[in-house]
Amino acid sequence: MKILVTGGLGFIGSHTVVELQKEGFEVVIIDNLSNSSEDVLKGIVAITGKMPIFENLDLREKKSVQEFFKKHNDVNGVIHFAASKAVGESVENPLLYYENNLGALVYILQELEKKPEANFIFSSSCTVYGQAEKMPITENAPVQQPMSPYGNTKKIGEEIIIDVAKVTKINAILLRYFNPIGSHPSAEIGELPLGIPQNLVPFITQTGLGLRNVLSVFGDDYPTPDGTCIRDYIHVVDLAKAHVIALQRLLNKKNLDKVETFNLGTGTGSSVLEVIRSFEKVSGKKLPYKIVPRREGDITEAYANTDKANNVLGWKAQSTLDEAMAGAWKWEQKIRG
Ligand code: WQD
Repeated sequence: MKILVTGGLGFIGSHTVVELQKEGFEVVIIDNLSNSSEDVLKGIVAITGKMPIFENLDLREKKSVQEFFKKHNDVNGVIHFAASKAVGESVENPLLYYENNLGALVYILQELEKKPEANFIFSSSCTVYGQAEKMPITENAPVQQPMSPYGNTKKIGEEIIIDVAKVTKINAILLRYFNPIGSHPSAEIGELPLGIPQNLVPFITQTGLGLRNVLSVFGDDYPTPDGTCIRDYIHVVDLAKAHVIALQRLLNKKNLDKVETFNLGTGTGSSVLEVIRSFEKVSGKKLPYKIVPRREGDITEAYANTDKANNVLGWKAQSTLDEAMAGAWKWEQKIRG
């Protein structure tokens, strides 16, 4: 049985392909290389010694999706990462996000509904909670109207899956990520942000390497202990392992409901200044930063209640912030050092 990983040459996708191969799964990747590179395949093979099947196609083309599922008719497990994910860009170009993140999802589900059984893991995000009332955030926290079209595509994507699972043989698990960071310990794969990094950790490591002059800290006037925003930074390998466990749960028919939801975080919140200190500790370098006004759309605080993932999924994040930061720094030095 083959597992399809869409966006499998991306940051979280490639780390998940590695963990799937380590568990003995045969993997086929769909990626349109819009935010990744075919070189990532070399990194995957360097780690596992196994070359996944790679199909370079765009999931927005319905015919291509139909032809793919005809050719690979033994796929009955799908982990769907492929999506545009830049919050700011989604505000500027909402239709790109609705077409890419939702159109592609519909085409894949249309193929899966034809199968006698299908297992679907959806890459969702804690962004669907907006600014949750209560910390740590449980899966029962209300889903709010996200601040960006990107976040809205995650919310609507979940709703589409729930509606479809009700009337088809598709079983699904929605994985709501907190903030993925770091890279594989081998430094053969990692995060490859194109252009100026939007996210904190790659901006820090590029600043550490001198590629950026200074890190702008978006506000220190939040109602938090040190005034900067708090997030739950989770090692990408921990996150990847959770996907394999979730898929095995569906394949072994252990799921209690047609659609289950899990928050994937460490359960610990870290402020921006604490992340900076973590970088300085693991790199031994002083990081140049300046405080600037808040970024539009940022929430103050988000970190996960991990009880459900720990107790029901049987998964727990293993790596600390420092370990994840050390991996991110090692990767940055390797690719741009
Ligand atoms: C983290 C903190 C910033 C950059 C988003 C999406 C989420 C997921 C991850 C895709 C915030 C601060 C950042 C900088 C800064 N997306 N920051 N200077 O916004 O929590 O989450 O990215 O997978 O769905 O919502 O992550 O890394 O952008 O920001 O001060 O140069 O770092 O204000 O407090 P975010 P982030």
